[in-house]
Amino acid sequence: MFGEPVAHLWVWGVLLLLWCASVSAADVVPWPCPQRCDCSPETQEVNCSRKYLTAVPEGFAADTKRLDLSSNRLKTLSRRQFSGLSKLQELDLSNNVLSMMEVEAFQGLQSLRMLKIRSNRLKIIPVGVFTGLSNLRSLDLSENEILVFLDYTFRDMASLQQLNAGENDLVFISQRAFVGLQGLQELNVDRSNLTSVPSEALSQLGGLVKLRLRRLTISALPNNAFRRLHQLRSLKILHWPSLDTVGSNSLLGLNLTTLAITNCNLSAVPYAAMRHLIYLRYLDLSYNPITTILSNQLGDLLRLQELHLVGGGLLRIEPAAFRGLPHFRLLNVSSNRLTTLEESAFHSVGNLQILRLDRNPLACDCRLLWVARRRLRLDFDGRQPVCAAPERARGRRISDFSEGELPVVFTCRQAYIPDRRPQEVLAEEGTTALFDCKAEGYPLPSITWLSTQQTMLTSMGRIRVLANGSLEVRYAQVQDSGTYMCLATNAAGNDSIFVKLQVQGFPRNRTAPYYPEGGWSTTPYPPSTNTSAQVTNPYPFDAKTLVIATTMGFLSFLSSVAICFVFMFFWSQSKGQIKHTATIDFVPRSSMGGGGDGDTGRFTMKLI
Ligand SMILES: *[C@@H]1O[C@H](CO)[C@@H](O)[C@H](O)[C@H]1NC(C)=O
Ligand SMILES: *[C@@H]1O[C@H](CO)[C@@H](O)[C@H](O)[C@H]1NC(C)=O
Ligand SMILES: *[C@@H]1O[C@H](CO)[C@@H](O)[C@H](O)[C@H]1NC(C)=O
Ligand SMILES: *[C@@H]1O[C@H](CO)[C@@H](O)[C@H](O)[C@H]1NC(C)=O
Ligand SMILES: *[C@@H]1O[C@H](CO)[C@@H](O)[C@H](O)[C@H]1NC(C)=O
Ligand SMILES: *[C@@H]1O[C@H](CO)[C@@H](O)[C@H](O)[C@H]1NC(C)=O
Ligand SMILES: *[C@@H]1O[C@H](CO)[C@@H](O)[C@H](O)[C@H]1NC(C)=O
Ligand SMILES: *[C@@H]1O[C@H](CO)[C@@H](O)[C@H](O)[C@H]1NC(C)=O
Ligand SMILES: *[C@@H]1O[C@H](CO)[C@@H](O)[C@H](O)[C@H]1NC(C)=O
Repeated sequence: MFGEPVAHLWVWGVLLLLWCASVSAADVVPWPCPQRCDCSPETQEVNCSRKYLTAVPEGFAADTKRLDLSSNRLKTLSRRQFSGLSKLQELDLSNNVLSMMEVEAFQGLQSLRMLKIRSNRLKIIPVGVFTGLSNLRSLDLSENEILVFLDYTFRDMASLQQLNAGENDLVFISQRAFVGLQGLQELNVDRSNLTSVPSEALSQLGGLVKLRLRRLTISALPNNAFRRLHQLRSLKILHWPSLDTVGSNSLLGLNLTTLAITNCNLSAVPYAAMRHLIYLRYLDLSYNPITTILSNQLGDLLRLQELHLVGGGLLRIEPAAFRGLPHFRLLNVSSNRLTTLEESAFHSVGNLQILRLDRNPLACDCRLLWVARRRLRLDFDGRQPVCAAPERARGRRISDFSEGELPVVFTCRQAYIPDRRPQEVLAEEGTTALFDCKAEGYPLPSITWLSTQQTMLTSMGRIRVLANGSLEVRYAQVQDSGTYMCLATNAAGNDSIFVKLQVQGFPRNRTAPYYPEGGWSTTPYPPSTNTSAQVTNPYPFDAKTLVIATTMGFLSFLSSVAICFVFMFFWSQSKGQIKHTATIDFVPRSSMGGGGDGDTGRFTMKLI
């Protein structure tokens, strides 16, 4: 009878003991947690986010590793505010109203690796605020109202790798502001009121690998803007709406693999500035008003793999634009005004893998046949190019055409000039001659005229090509006589006609000035001068020339007289000790021995 209750008591006793033990264990190692904060001893985290705190609370465990004080109402940080938290690795002070941080505010946080002070009201960062943060890797100062970075602000942060200084009102970065940041690899400056690239300050960042400068109001990248950034591999210049000038030496000293200059005001690809970037693999020039990619200008970028030029107003990619780029695999020219993209633009289309050609007014003719043929192999990134012309293909996606349709739809009609009547003009000197040249074909042929010397004529000058393809010879000269060629060219072929001009000169005589130039020069012929006007001019020189000539003559006369007087003065001074010979030493030009032989380098002359 006794055995059972005893056994029960024994069991209860053990349970009680166990409970006591567990309670006392919790009492022995309590993990202090400040009021209103959520603490998690296992992860050594303290979360005081969104607790309406107006001051940094007290009573943290000494081994706290992460502390979240974000989204509170903290106004100031005083000196050694976090002393004692020597194990703290991450501190988040974002979304407060901090306007003041005292010097040495973070002193003692020698283990801190990440510090976020994003979205506060800091206007100034006193030098010395960040002392003691010798292990900090990442610092976020974005979305404050900081106006300047003073000299030595980041002096003691040799381990810092990432600095985000974006979304501030920075007007000035002092030349020595970044001294000490030799470990910095990544710098972001997003939106600031800087008016020039802080080249001198940046040049302290010898270890920088990535630099992003976004939303600045700078209009030019000056030469040597990024000097001494030898490790920089990625440069992103984004949303500089007034940037229209990239100096041809602005990227000098850089060895980039990634370059983006997007949403700026560049009207041409900055070929010269990029020429030395032979390791460049990724180039993005999207959202700039660039209209053309020129022939043979990117060939130095040997390793280029990707070009993005989206939303840029591109009208034309010239043949051989990507010549010399064997690794070129991605072209992204979505949302431009391209009517075509010829195979001849590429080094080899065999390497092209991804092509974004959508949102362009494409003419689906023989020039795009290569795209149509590769439509199943090429990756259009999910955006099929759509035909805008010709009529029968309008609105259709390139991949929708069957194999049998390709040779029917993707065709061209060779350029040809229907009116082949001989054009021979006999013109009097000084009059205007006009020759017509109209061509047909699909796509519409372009017209060029060649001069009698086979040079290409332009739309400028005395002899010019008009917008409608006609050739106009104004103030015809005798030497304009000869045969001119009109060449009509399109993707399918070319056609040409020849026209003849015979210019009759006026009978001349030797006293009449001959008007020599004017032949093939592209400068406009001066219309105000004409032969008869020059004949009637009674004087061979105009008044201005006469005045200049007279003045010059008078001046040279004066100077001769002056020299004479000076000579006489010196001569009179040396009276009494006159030498009658003068010996002049000289080093002969071809002398090899250094003038050891006195006779060859000396002559004597007799003074009278
Ligand atoms: C702290 O708590 C907030 C919610 O109150 C949460 O959004 C935040 O992620 C937490 N912070 C950390 C570091 O876990
Ligand atoms: C910086 O620029 C912004 C927008 O242009 C302007 O609102 C702000 O007042 C400027 N800040 C300073 C300090 O100039
Ligand atoms: C961009 O350049 C054009 C002329 O090239 C100029 O008219 C325009 O004002 C510029 N835009 C900006 C934002 O500077
Ligand atoms: C340029 O960068 C490439 C790629 O990072 C590297 O292989 C090359 O050695 C660098 N050249 C120089 C001169 O620094
Ligand atoms: C082409 O550019 C657009 C716009 O920048 C981008 O959204 C798209 O991802 C790019 N496509 C590829 C394949 O990179
Ligand atoms: C071309 O334009 C010129 C001047 O505008 C005109 O005189 C000429 O007749 C035109 N030629 C043709 C073929 O339309
Ligand atoms: C015109 O076409 C012929 C053959 O069709 C070709 O030999 C010639 O080079 C072409 N000329 C030009 C300027 O394209
Ligand atoms: C040459 O021109 C002058 C007027 O400039 C004229 O008087 C003279 O007769 C001309 N001589 C000949 C040979 O035409
Ligand atoms: C050429 O000179 C004559 C006489 O001086 C003048 O009447 C005529 O307007 C001039 N012609 C031109 C095209 O200047």
